Amino acid sequence: MLKSSLQNLSKSNNNPKEKELELSLRPKKLEEYIGQKRIKENLKIFIEAARQRKEPLEHVLIYGPAGLGKTTLSHIIATEMGSNIRPTSGPAIEKIGDLASILTNLEDGDILFIDEVHRMNKLVEEALYPAMEDCKLDIIIGKGPSAKTLQLDLPHFTLIGATTRIGLISSPLRSRFGMTYKLNFYSQNEIASILERSGNILSIPMEKNGCSLISRCSRRNPRVANRLLKRVRDIAEVKGSGVINQELAQRALEMLEIDSMGLDPGDRYLLRSLIKKFGGGPVGIGTLAAATSEEKDTIEEIYEPYLLKIGFLERTPRGRIATKRAFEHLGFSWNDEGLKL
Ligand SMILES: Nc1ncnc2c1ncn2[C@@H]1O[C@H](COP(=O)(O)OP(=O)(O)OP(=O)(O)O)[C@@H](O)[C@H]1O
Ligand SMILES: [Mg+2]
Repeated sequence: MLKSSLQNLSKSNNNPKEKELELSLRPKKLEEYIGQKRIKENLKIFIEAARQRKEPLEHVLIYGPAGLGKTTLSHIIATEMGSNIRPTSGPAIEKIGDLASILTNLEDGDILFIDEVHRMNKLVEEALYPAMEDCKLDIIIGKGPSAKTLQLDLPHFTLIGATTRIGLISSPLRSRFGMTYKLNFYSQNEIASILERSGNILSIPMEKNGCSLISRCSRRNPRVANRLLKRVRDIAEVKGSGVINQELAQRALEMLEIDSMGLDPGDRYLLRSLIKKFGGGPVGIGTLAAATSEEKDTIEEIYEPYLLKIGFLERTPRGRIATKRAFEHLGFSWNDEGLKL
């Protein structure tokens, strides 16, 4: 049941239409990237310094929940550096040979973007260490006693790694990044600015009240905001005059079953299960996953970050707990012992 619309809203997916939408709305320059002020200020200085010295940027690690702008920021860094970017992902680099072919095809100053960098094969990861440190790659040719190690000199490249799961990055890998940035959830005003920008690009007529209502229900997440905007636009065109005003936005959000906190049926099902089946917890993530027929990773990467952020869920050493706020939001009464049905 949990396979909800939310997953489609905040998780990156392979739907060509959604991909096209993301590409068209993706800011290209640092100044178009809304919010994350401190990260932008920081990056601006390091990019300028590297450019002045005519050196590649240090390796950068970017982490944070899905849809907050890691891939976007990585491409912006490449544009601002005037560098080519070669995108790949952790699971796509299966063997050291794959890594060798990617690295040897780079040129000085290029950026290698590894998405889902926490999902790299251990051997590949270890081969990456000397590549990151000294631009060298050791490859073993042949097998058994006649095997030989060949050391390849690599171009001076910058690695940008992105992950939703910083906890799964080993410390040797983490320590090889010169800069690590955590993307934070956006403020409601920042989301409203992102919506305005997207509305302009897509020529969607939108009133301020409509925009602010959608921004309140966007989980502080730009991807969710853009996808909601598009769905509300569809509804506005079919059911209304095409203009997104407050009334129309309200109606559309109701049709999409998204509530005032931005929760969709999937979130509510997760929280209700936690409350009804486990008295609000604590319950281990594995048990919760089994009880909701959802994958553990999806709960941890897609549902949880926002529920933790708004204080509806807490993570304790004994498991997940639904908070008083979650009980009240879902209409359950609360007493000090927890659940009172
Ligand atoms: N700071 C921002 N300003 C404006 N738009 C943004 C910003 N951050 C992200 N977006 C928009 O949100 C969409 C999702 O961003 P992006 O794909 O970079 O997220 P992500 O963190 O890489 O997600 P995932 O973890 O799923 O890979 C982008 O297409 C972009 O249009
Ligand atoms: Mg991404």
